[in-house]
Order: sequence, then structure tokens, then C-alpha cells
Amino acid sequence: MNILHVVGARPNFMKAAPVYAALRERAGIQQTLVHTGQHYDYGMSEIFFQQLALPAPDVNLEVGSGTHTAQTAQIMLRLEPVLLERRPDLVVVYGDVNSTLAAALVCAKLGIPLAHVEAGLRSFDRTMPEEVNRLLTDQVADLLFTPSQDADVNLSREGISKEKIHLVGNVMIDTLVRLLPLALRKWQGNSMTVEGIVVEQGRYILTTLHRPSNVDDPETLQAIMNALSEISESVPVVFPVHPRTRQRLNVLTDVNLNSALHLVSPLGYLDFLALEGHALAVITDSGGIQEETTFLNVPCLTVRENTERPVTVTMGTNILVGRDFEKLVREVRVIVKGIAKRGSIPPLWDGNASERIADTICRWGE
Ligand code: UD1
Ligand code: UDP
Repeated sequence: MNILHVVGARPNFMKAAPVYAALRERAGIQQTLVHTGQHYDYGMSEIFFQQLALPAPDVNLEVGSGTHTAQTAQIMLRLEPVLLERRPDLVVVYGDVNSTLAAALVCAKLGIPLAHVEAGLRSFDRTMPEEVNRLLTDQVADLLFTPSQDADVNLSREGISKEKIHLVGNVMIDTLVRLLPLALRKWQGNSMTVEGIVVEQGRYILTTLHRPSNVDDPETLQAIMNALSEISESVPVVFPVHPRTRQRLNVLTDVNLNSALHLVSPLGYLDFLALEGHALAVITDSGGIQEETTFLNVPCLTVRENTERPVTVTMGTNILVGRDFEKLVREVRVIVKGIAKRGSIPPLWDGNASERIADTICRWGE
């Protein structure tokens, strides 16, 4: 069977790596890796190929940045000839980024079977570009691999037939389980140095923010930065800044931040995971980081009104603080006092989701 994977943005790489590795172990499978080029900086792309042991892409479509329409259309235009030439038996797409939807649409047009890894997640907020990507990708997928039971319920409600839905667990956790021991070696005793900043276990907060709803509006971004600056007066904050956010920060006028709010470049997976593992808490609007903190049992404050990953709230360590930045500061105070939400690990987040995916794909191909 000839399987072609399409990846494009940072969170795709952690999801594709274990699936690619699991399929490599199966007889009679040839694999092609296509990178759309949606993310292209070394620190947003190549470093993950190295650290996650993903092979170099066979094809890079080099689409780069643009409006959502331009980016999606460019991926479609450039992917179509690749699929026509290579004629895969199955295309595998990951998550909810523009590269995911663009590849899904090309497959639908060409009649090529499609598998969606991380299917069925819903925030029920269609102002999020990712929500539209998820909904449409799932409508045209033939194999839908879900991370949690809520996703199966969502898909059934949308009329997807049960035979297509496979509850396999969370592939992002496969990568975490595999690489956590290596990441934790970055600690020397109780301390770790990253980008010249020394942190101590349990005595810092890790932050990431990149949702357009948080960072694109200068007033909102300013209010978040003020809240983080205030938080850093009681506990140091390490904030690896996504390129979208970096651009928006560059044009903020009132940037008078406390010196314990450390803005650094996006980190490689191992540094980031090492920091996540021993943080007092994480403040984020990332999808994947809500899941990783639940697995790691690290308190997570999510700066969003909703989440497509409700299991991280019901079972895990996640708390939605919404756009109430005073609440954010208050929740951090509670954590600093030693009262943190603890949780449990959702079923099938066990490091073997990619094996279950490989099994299902092989059975499907028989
Ligand atoms: C994208 C995904 C989002 C995901 C995030 C993960 C969509 C709609 N959004 O958001 O779901 O959570 O990736 O990180 O697919 N840029 C660079 N260098 C890069 C990549 C981007 O400088 O390597 C800058 C460009 O100015 C670009 C901006 O960041 O315009 C945004 O990039 P884009 O891929 O459009 O969206 P993200 O915000 O990264
Ligand atoms: N991540 C990383 N370095 C960073 C920030 C995040 O390696 O500086 C990892 C993080 O551990 C997780 C993934 O990137 O595995 C999440 O991707 P991102 O937040 O960009 O996207 P989302 O999950 O929100 O779509």
C-alpha cells in the first residue's frame, strides 16, 4: 500500500512522527511525506524533523504564509500534481490547520481515500478558522481516527457512519511518551537553562499564545501582556513567542514589561517538553499544549472561551479562563498558594495510538 502523509504546521509534526514510524514497521507499506511549507522557519519546522526523527520530506510545496484563502488555494494547486503523479492508495492528514483542509479537498476532488488523524474535535465556535477546517475535513474523510469519546459523539451527530470512526487515542501523547525521558535529561538537578534563562523546578510558569483572537487585536494583546507582567512579579514566566505573536508584539506601543517575563524564540520540542514537565503552571491558547499538560498533570490555564478538547477540562488539569485576564491573575495566585487542579489521564492516551492507527490502516488496505 502506498501511503502519503501531508504535514505543514508545527503541531502536525508531533502527530505525524509516530504514525509514520508505526507504519514503517509494517510489511508492504511505502510512505511519502509531503510538507506544504505552511510553517518554514527553522524553529517552527526543521528542528522538529530532527528531534522527532521524521525523515526529510519527499516533497516540499513551499507555500509559505498568506491569507487563509491564498494559503489554502496554493496548497491545493501545488498538491494536486503530486497526488496525480504518485497516486497514493491513502492520504493521511493531521489536526486542523489550513494544510489539513487543503489536502482533504484535493483528495475529495481526485477520489483518493483520506484518513484524518485527530478527527471529531469541536469547539462549536465557527469564528475559529480551525473549526471550519475540522468540520469540512471530517465530512470528506474515509477513516476518522479520534482521540477521545466526545469526538465520536460529535461525528455521529454530524451523520458520519460508525464504520468510518476509530477511537484510537491521542497520537501527540505517543510522541510525548517516547521523548519525555530524553527531554527531562535537560534538567541538571533542580535547574535548567534555556535561552540563557535559569529556571527551577516548580518555580516558573510557561506560556504560549498565538490564537488570532488573542494576539491580532493590539488592545487584547496589551491586556494579556500586562497580566503576564503582573504574574511574573510573583513567579517568573518563560514565554516562547510564536512568529505571529512576535509580529504583533513588535507594533505594541506600551511595552513596559517586568524583567521576570522572559520572551524567547519558539523552542524545539525537547526544550519545550522539558519546561512543560516541571512548570508550576502553563498559560496557553494552544490546542496541543492543553493535552500535554493534562498528561503531565501540570495545571493549565487556557486563555480561550471554549475548547475543542473538553476532556482536558473534565478529566485533566485544564481550566478555561476565557478573556478575563483578572481571572487569569487570580487563578495563578491560587496555584502559587499550592492549590492546583489535578486530573487523570484520559483513556487511550497511553503512547500506543499510532500502533492502533497502523493496525486499522493495514486492515482497511487488505
Ligand atoms: C497555524 C494554524 C493554527 C495552529 C498554528 C500552530 C491555520 C489556520 N492556523 O497558525 O491552527 O495552531 O499554526 O502553530 O492553519 N510565520 C513565520 N514563520 C513561520 C510560520 C509563520 O514568520 O515559519 C508568520 C507569518 O507572518 C504568518 C504568521 O506567522 O503570516 C501566521 O502563520 P500561519 O501559518 O498563517 O498561521 P499560524 O498563526 O501559525
Ligand atoms: N511546542 C514547541 N515549542 C514551542 C511551543 C510549542 O515544541 O515553543 C510544541 C508543544 O509541545 C506541542 C505543539 O508544539 O507539542 C503545539 O503546537 P502549537 O501550539 O503551535 O499548535 P496547536 O496545538 O495550538 O495547533
